[in-house]
Order: sequence, then structure tokens, then C-alpha cells
Amino acid sequence: MIIDEGKVRLEIIRGFEAGPGFISPGFYNRDMETSRDLTVAILRMLKPGLALDSMAGTGARGLRVAAETGWKVTLNDICKTNYELAKRNARLNDLDLEIWNLNYFTAVAARKWDYIDIDPYGTPIGFIDAALMNLRNNGIIGITMTDTANLEGKSIKKGRRLYGGLSQRGIYSREISTRIFIKSLLERGAALGLAGKPLISVREKHYIRAFIQFGKGSKVSDAILARIEKMEIGGKEAGPMYTGNLYDPATLEKISSEGLSANTVKLMNNFRNEDLMFLFFTNENGSSEPKLMDLIESIKKEGFKAGRTNFYEKGIKSDVSEEIFQDILKRVQNNFTL
Ligand SMILES: C[S@@+](CC[C@H](N)C(=O)[O-])C[C@H]1O[C@@H](n2cnc3c(N)ncnc32)[C@H](O)[C@@H]1O
Repeated sequence: MIIDEGKVRLEIIRGFEAGPGFISPGFYNRDMETSRDLTVAILRMLKPGLALDSMAGTGARGLRVAAETGWKVTLNDICKTNYELAKRNARLNDLDLEIWNLNYFTAVAARKWDYIDIDPYGTPIGFIDAALMNLRNNGIIGITMTDTANLEGKSIKKGRRLYGGLSQRGIYSREISTRIFIKSLLERGAALGLAGKPLISVREKHYIRAFIQFGKGSKVSDAILARIEKMEIGGKEAGPMYTGNLYDPATLEKISSEGLSANTVKLMNNFRNEDLMFLFFTNENGSSEPKLMDLIESIKKEGFKAGRTNFYEKGIKSDVSEEIFQDILKRVQNNFTL
């Protein structure tokens, strides 16, 4: 079967449109298109360098990076069927690049990279150190975790073992899981002498995708670690988690959504709101629920910044204080025109 994504055509063996899908050779997941869009969006705004798509599968991500940015890409996959498929897909798109059939650890250690993509089935935690040790100064790691149930659902204890933070269920679970995941990446960097700067992070569908830039600098590292804290949320302890900014303002300034999928554009529209506050407000307040957009407009009319968050469909991020927010919420509920 042949499918299109971004500027490439791909032969795939098994396609999947929604959810985590299957573990099988030649597997292509349309649900992860946004995570690939974001890789392209970040890399095309930077000076081109060497990129490793270390778990390439069909080659979808690496081939898109090669076709849509000026980066020099190496594809790798441990699975022979995927390796052969990635080679056919490179030919299908007239792309001439290195394609390897190696274990991740061998591939990543072959040289120093400016970008390393880690996209395994399940937890990526065991792959992080090797990437950090083979990243050039100020290089970027793009990493997916699909075991979100470990930080949000039934296996919270397992999440604590893997990522070193206590999560919780409920409306904040997706933001908390993202912040605990980011924490675990930043801590690994710090232990290896690298300060990590989160560029962009999304929690959508069944996965978290983070892009972190790592550079030398112990003082910066200490400042980042100071933002790793335990928090009390809904009367329960959560974390430790990263409470600093999830988005780099300079990246948001330059990033473009041109040519990306509608879902990616929708998510990108909210990126600027995410760091307005830690967690978010919600329009859920007792029996009557005002329209989210009415509430956002009312907050803005009062001179504050406000917008939707990708962490919760009924969430609002704003720089307004809790007290003023509650006041505005009550007035909007009572249909009071501000
Ligand atoms: C989720 S799929 C990758 C999807 C692909 N990146 C994409 O965007 O369509 C995970 C891939 O990692 C490969 N993989 C798993 N463990 C690996 C390892 N230790 N070294 C290299 N590849 C590995 C699998 O064969 C599989 O193709």
C-alpha cells in the first residue's frame, strides 16, 4: 500500500489511523503524523546538520526530514524488513541517504549527531543516555513516549519506577505526565554534564513527544534542576516534575506551521498559551458551564493573556490570578457583560 505524508510517498505494510497500533514490520501510524510534522518544523528552521532517525520503521520521519529540510539524514532500524522497506521508500522519493540495519546503541555511537530521534514502542527511558553521549554540543533530541498509562493510568507505580515521579489521575494528569517525563530527560542530561532546554513538548492522543536541546553548562543545569519540584495538586503529592517552561520562546518565534497537517496547526495555535501558568483553569464549575471561548474573551477583555491548552479540552491557560479568574468565571456564569 502507498500513502502520502508531508512531501513524501511511502510504501507501508500495515497502516493504522488511530491509537497506538501494532508492533509489526512495515507498520505506519497516521496518528503520529503530528510528532513527525514537529520534527520537520523544528529542523527546517535551524542550521542543517547531521540527523539520526534511530528507529526509522518505514522511514517516514527521516525521509520527511531529508525531503523537507536541508538536514543530512541517516535512517536506522534493527528490523531487517523495515530496513529493506526504508531503502525502497528512499528510492521511491529519489532520496540518496545512509540507511543502516543496526541496533540503536551501535547506530547512535557511530558518530556525533546534531539531532537524534528516539521513537521506540513503549518507554524510551533506556535509550536516553546513549543519545546524550553522542550528541554534539547544543544538539537536539526528539523523543516519543507511548507508555502514557504508566504516568496517567493504572500503572502509576510503574511510572514512578521508570520516570522517578509520582503522577495522578484526573484533569491535570496529562500535564503532570509531560512534566515528569521532561524532568527525567533533564535529570539524565544533568548527570552527564548537559543542560537541557525544552523546545517544544506535546501530549496528544496516546503519546508524549518532547524536543530538548542539550548543551554544556553546569550553572544553567543547576538553574534547570531548581525547577524540578514536588507539588501538591488536588490535595495530593505529585512529582517531582519539571515546573519550568515547556516551550522555548525563541523557537516559538521562528517555527512555522506551513505545509503541516491540520491537527498539527491546531495544536501549534495553543503553544504560546502553555507557559502562561503551571497547570490551568477550567470552565467546569458546578452545574452551569460557560462556553470556553466566552470565558477566554472575558479574561482578555480584562487585560490578561488567555487561551486554550492542549493538555485538557476544557482548560484555559492565562496569566490572570486565581482570585480574578474566579471572579470573571462567576460573572460570565451569571451572564454579566464585562
Ligand atoms: C514506533 S516504530 C518507529 C516508527 C517510525 N519512527 C515512524 O515515525 O513511523 C519503532 C521502531 O523501532 C525499531 N526498534 C526497536 N528497537 C530497536 C533497537 N534497539 N534498535 C533499532 N531499532 C529498534 C522497531 O523495529 C520499529 O521499527
